[in-house]
Amino acid sequence: MVLSTSSVAFIFVATSITICIAIIVLYTKWKFLYWVRVGLPILHPTFFFGNMKDILLGRCSEGDFYYECYKKFKSNGFKHGGVYMFLHPVYVPTDLKIIKHILKNDFEHFTNRTTYLNEEGDPLSENMFRMHDDKWKNLRTKLTRNFSPNKLNLMFPSLLDCAEDLKIVVDEAVIKRVPVDVKEVLGRFCVDVFGETALGLQWEVLKNPQSDINNYCKNFFDSNGFRMMKIMLAEILPKSLLCAIKFKLAGTDLEQFFIKLIDRVINYREKNNTRREDFLQLLLEMKNNSSVHEKPLNLNQVTAQVFAFFLAVFEAPSSMITFALYELANNFKIQEKVKEEINSVLSKHGGQLTYKTIAEMKYLDKVLQETVRKHPVGRILQRKCNSDYTIPNTSIRLKKGVSVKISIVGVHYDPEYYPNPEKFDPEHFSDQNKKERPDIAWLGFGKGQRMCLGLRFAIVLGKLALCVLLENYKVTLNTKTKVPIQLDVKKFFSYAEGGVWLDFEKV
Ligand code: HEM
Repeated sequence: MVLSTSSVAFIFVATSITICIAIIVLYTKWKFLYWVRVGLPILHPTFFFGNMKDILLGRCSEGDFYYECYKKFKSNGFKHGGVYMFLHPVYVPTDLKIIKHILKNDFEHFTNRTTYLNEEGDPLSENMFRMHDDKWKNLRTKLTRNFSPNKLNLMFPSLLDCAEDLKIVVDEAVIKRVPVDVKEVLGRFCVDVFGETALGLQWEVLKNPQSDINNYCKNFFDSNGFRMMKIMLAEILPKSLLCAIKFKLAGTDLEQFFIKLIDRVINYREKNNTRREDFLQLLLEMKNNSSVHEKPLNLNQVTAQVFAFFLAVFEAPSSMITFALYELANNFKIQEKVKEEINSVLSKHGGQLTYKTIAEMKYLDKVLQETVRKHPVGRILQRKCNSDYTIPNTSIRLKKGVSVKISIVGVHYDPEYYPNPEKFDPEHFSDQNKKERPDIAWLGFGKGQRMCLGLRFAIVLGKLALCVLLENYKVTLNTKTKVPIQLDVKKFFSYAEGGVWLDFEKV
C-alpha cells in the first residue's frame, strides 16, 4: 500500500501534535508532583490553572481561596501545605511559629514580595511594596522618618482640616435625610488627606466628587479574571520575559496622570524654592542627595513612591474606618462606650482635638484593632523565598523562587487565638487577652521587617475620623447595607458588596 503525500503529512502532523500534548501533560503532571516530592500535603490542582481556576473565573477572591487552604490544612492537623499558581509552587503555612520564622526571624530568606520590577518599562513598579533587598532597605529606613510621632503631630492640623470637610459632607446628608455610602465618602476624605499631607495640594475631592483623581483610583482597585491573571503572571514569570512584552501593572492613563502631576509639583517647588515638611520633600532630599555613599533617587523612583503611598492612603484607611462604622452601627453598646470615651477625653482637654488627645483614647484603639482583625483590608501576606530554606524542625525544604502566602483571615478567624471569632469584641485586645496569645496572631498590618510602614498614620487617621463623626452623630445601618457583609470577589481588597450605607443623626 502506498500512502499519498497528503496522508503522510497528516500522519506526521497528527503524531507531532499527539507527542506535544503528551509532553505538555507529562510535564504538567511532573510539576504538580513538586509538593509531593517535597513532602507537603496539597490541594489537588487542575490542568494548567493549578489551584487558581476559581479565582480566574471570578468565583472567589484570592483572599477567600487562601482562607479555604488555611482551614483545610489546619483542620487536617497540618502545619502547612502546598498549592499551585498555574505551575508555580506556593507554600501556605498555618502554624504561627513557622509564620513568625518567615516574617521575622528568618527574614533574610524572605526579604521580597514578588520578582516583578521593571525600572525602565514600568516606572511606577519601582515602589516600596515591590522594591528588593538593599534598595528597599535603604528607602524604608529613610521613609520611616515620615511617620514618626513628631511628624504625625505636625501633620495633625492638616488632617483636622480635612475632617472638617468630612463633617460638611455628612451634614448635607443629614439635612437631605439621605443615607451615606461611607466607603465612597471616606475614600474622598483620604484622597484630600494625601494631597494635603504628602504633596501640599488642596484637591478638595470631598467637595468635588467628580475630580479626575477620584475617578482614577476608584477604577484601580477593581479586578476581573484578566487583571487577576496579570497580577499572578507578574509574580511568577521571569522579569526578562515581562520586560520583553512591555508588561505594565497600572493603566497608561493613571501612569501618565501621576507622572505629569508629580513633575508639575516638583518643578513648581524647585523653581520657586518652596520647601514644605512633607512626604514629597523627604523624597526630593533623597533625589537631590549628593553623598558619594548613596545613589540618589531618580524622578521615576520619586513618582513611584508617591503613587504607591497614594494608593495605600486612598484604599486601606477608608476601608478600615468604613468597617469600624459598620460594626459600631451594628453594636450600639460599643458605639455608646466609644462616644463616652471621646466625650470624656475631649472634656478633659477643653474640647480640643489634638494628636495628644487622640492618643489617650485607648478604647478606640481596641475598636480599630478589632476592626482590622475581623475585617482585614488586605487578606493575605505575600513573600518570595530568595534563598533555599529548611522549615525549622521539619525536613521540608523550600527552593529559591517559591512563593509564600499567609492567610491573614485564616489566623484572625482561628478559634485557637480568638474564641468566637465571628463576634465583634474590642476586648479581644484587652491587655490580658493580648498576653494570652502570640503577638503574631494579629496580622492586619503584616509583621516583621516588612510590615506596614503607614500603621501609625492609619491609626491616627482612623481615630480622628471616628472621633469627629461619633462626637457629632449617632450612626445606624441603612436598609441598603447587606447584613452580614458579603465581600465583593471582584475587588483586590476587602470591600462590602453593595457598599456600607449608614444613616447619620445629629447629637
Ligand atoms: C488601615 C490601613 C492599612 C492597612 C490595614 C495596611 C496593611 C498593610 C499590610 C497588610 C501590608 C503588608 C505587610 C507585610 O507584608 O508584612 C502593608 C504594607 C505597606 N503599607 Fe500599609 N496598610 C494600611 C495603611 C497604610 C498607609 C496609610 C500607608 C502609607 C502612608 C501604608 C504604607 C505601606 C507600605 C509602604 C507598605 C510596604 C512596606 C514594605 O514593603 O516595607 N499603609 N500595609
